[in-house]
Amino acid sequence: MFHYKGEKMAVASANTDLHGYGRAIRLELSRRLPSGRKLRVLDVGSGFGINAAFLARSLPKGSEVWTVDPSPEVLDNAKKSLGADAARLRFREASAHDLGFDEGYFDAVVSVMVLHHVVALQPAIAEMARVLRPGGTLLAVDYKPEASHKLDFKSRHEEKDFFSPEAVARGMAMAGLEAAEEEHGVWYLVEGRKAASARRRRAGRAPSRVASGR
Ligand SMILES: C[S@@+](CC[C@H](N)C(=O)[O-])C[C@H]1O[C@@H](n2cnc3c(N)ncnc32)[C@H](O)[C@@H]1O
Repeated sequence: MFHYKGEKMAVASANTDLHGYGRAIRLELSRRLPSGRKLRVLDVGSGFGINAAFLARSLPKGSEVWTVDPSPEVLDNAKKSLGADAARLRFREASAHDLGFDEGYFDAVVSVMVLHHVVALQPAIAEMARVLRPGGTLLAVDYKPEASHKLDFKSRHEEKDFFSPEAVARGMAMAGLEAAEEEHGVWYLVEGRKAASARRRRAGRAPSRVASGR
């Protein structure tokens, strides 16, 4: 099964910190991340590792921050370019479609500019929701479809590959999350919250797959 649209995986693309929106995006994320205690957080779609490093730096000490990407080449590149920050992260080769972690393992799952790469939106959202604990938060940021012709992408990006914020919010609702979307020009953020009512004892054991490296 293909987990991503292969042509867009080029590691060599210039890193423009998300077309100049990186800081604004991370500010919005930091407002929504849970705080005050050690957290388990998953970054889906490592890219250059910028979002993963931001999570590792901004979360409480002792937090467990994982970043996953289906491309080993991308993971290797992120480890190298992050330098010392890489030591704060756990890396795993995995797709949004099949994360390989236990159900309910994470307090928060974050994906930044990844949904337009996945082959099927709903299964990817459902898998990210699965690994969230009851009461946990899914934060999905991506470009709107119009960005495909407004921004200068270094690799092929077509309008049909992108999803509207409403489609992402619907996908989260279908996965059982309470979702709210917010638009910021050419990008958007959708926040999904898993109901806390079905609270079960949180899994305390290690995630089900062995990490591919650190
Ligand atoms: C624009 S980059 C991500 C940027 C990164 N999140 C950041 O904020 O620094 C998109 C990444 O999504 C990854 N990707 C593509 N398909 C994926 C999938 N099915 N699951 C997880 N990641 C995927 C690509 O390999 C690429 O590294």
